[in-house]
Amino acid sequence: MPVPSNSFWEQWLTAHRAKPDACVTLSLSPPPPLQDFLGELDPCLPLDWSGEDYQGLPSLRENVLDCYGYRFACSVDDVLITAGSQEANYLVLTQLLGPGDELVIDTPGWQQPLVLARQIGAVPRLVSRSEESGWALDIDQLEELVTSRTKVIFICNPNNPTGRVEDAATLHRIIAAADRVGAHILSDEIYRGLEWMGKETPRVATMYDRGVSTGSVSKLLGLQGLRTGWMVTRDRKLLAEAMVLRENTSEIMNVMGERIAEIALRPERFGGAVERSRAIGRTRIDLLDRFVAGQPALRWNRPAAGLLGLAHLDLPITADNFAETLLAAPYRTFVISGTAYACPQHLRLGAGGVSLTEFKLGLERMAQLLAACA
Ligand SMILES: Cc1ncc(COP(=O)(O)O)c(C=O)c1O
Repeated sequence: MPVPSNSFWEQWLTAHRAKPDACVTLSLSPPPPLQDFLGELDPCLPLDWSGEDYQGLPSLRENVLDCYGYRFACSVDDVLITAGSQEANYLVLTQLLGPGDELVIDTPGWQQPLVLARQIGAVPRLVSRSEESGWALDIDQLEELVTSRTKVIFICNPNNPTGRVEDAATLHRIIAAADRVGAHILSDEIYRGLEWMGKETPRVATMYDRGVSTGSVSKLLGLQGLRTGWMVTRDRKLLAEAMVLRENTSEIMNVMGERIAEIALRPERFGGAVERSRAIGRTRIDLLDRFVAGQPALRWNRPAAGLLGLAHLDLPITADNFAETLLAAPYRTFVISGTAYACPQHLRLGAGGVSLTEFKLGLERMAQLLAACA
């Protein structure tokens, strides 16, 4: 059945078309320009497929294992290169789920699995994250929701939109629940590397045979336009099935994406790029945190990772109304209303995706609207 539209996508499209001056809702680290890679790109590279391997450029897969810490438990044959994490999630969910199958999803969380569940006719079972507990996953509830009909447990870790990181002890409980019924765990780990509290995100692909970790060069490195990501899993059958589906969607990898991502993940480059993204990200999150602290109508749990957090709006208007007014003149600033995450009184605040000037302008404009609504 057709993929249903949803609030996240509609807000996104409306805002993009409105061409706002400023933005306080995005999650990308600053993108390096193409010229940073030209010196290491072969100008004679044929723009046909590389012909090297249907799983993706082997040197890129090796770099993924090393840069993202999967090497100690996974091999190069456990990595499939995809068109971003989004395609990796799509391949896994579409191959594992059928009509009537149950899919456990963390909420608030990444909206893609819910959209795909609706398209497939699978039954979503939502596990709550509560604001009072710092958006911790309700693991007792998750254990209750997992049944013999559960095929997949999806978590976004670190979480979009709250910035919460679930630790290894929680992951072990999720694994025990999944293993009890033979379910897979799909962990979207796209914000790995942007942890602020010293807690590293557990890698589900290294912890569980039916675990799948997805990621990409989009967030930490700001290279979203390359459309290059991956899934890592020791479940070779699932990986082979994902390749069959990819053959019937994007067919092969984006050659330029693979080549540039391979360069970006070379050890001599990756460390410096991560340091830069982290330094900028931390400064921006500090700014956002000070902003929220100074606004009586906002409160949030400072994100433990990534450039996003979910702030409660304590005003007699809905987050939808607030976001619509903020997007219109004279404010012309984009913020995603929490309706996109079934949290209608929250705003998704983000410190990435735009220049510091646009970000600061967005904060000023939001402060003006908050004052006008008070
Ligand atoms: C949690 C999460 N997963 C996946 C994606 C898609 O990213 P990619 O560019 O790797 O497809 C995003 C992008 O915003 C995201 O936030």
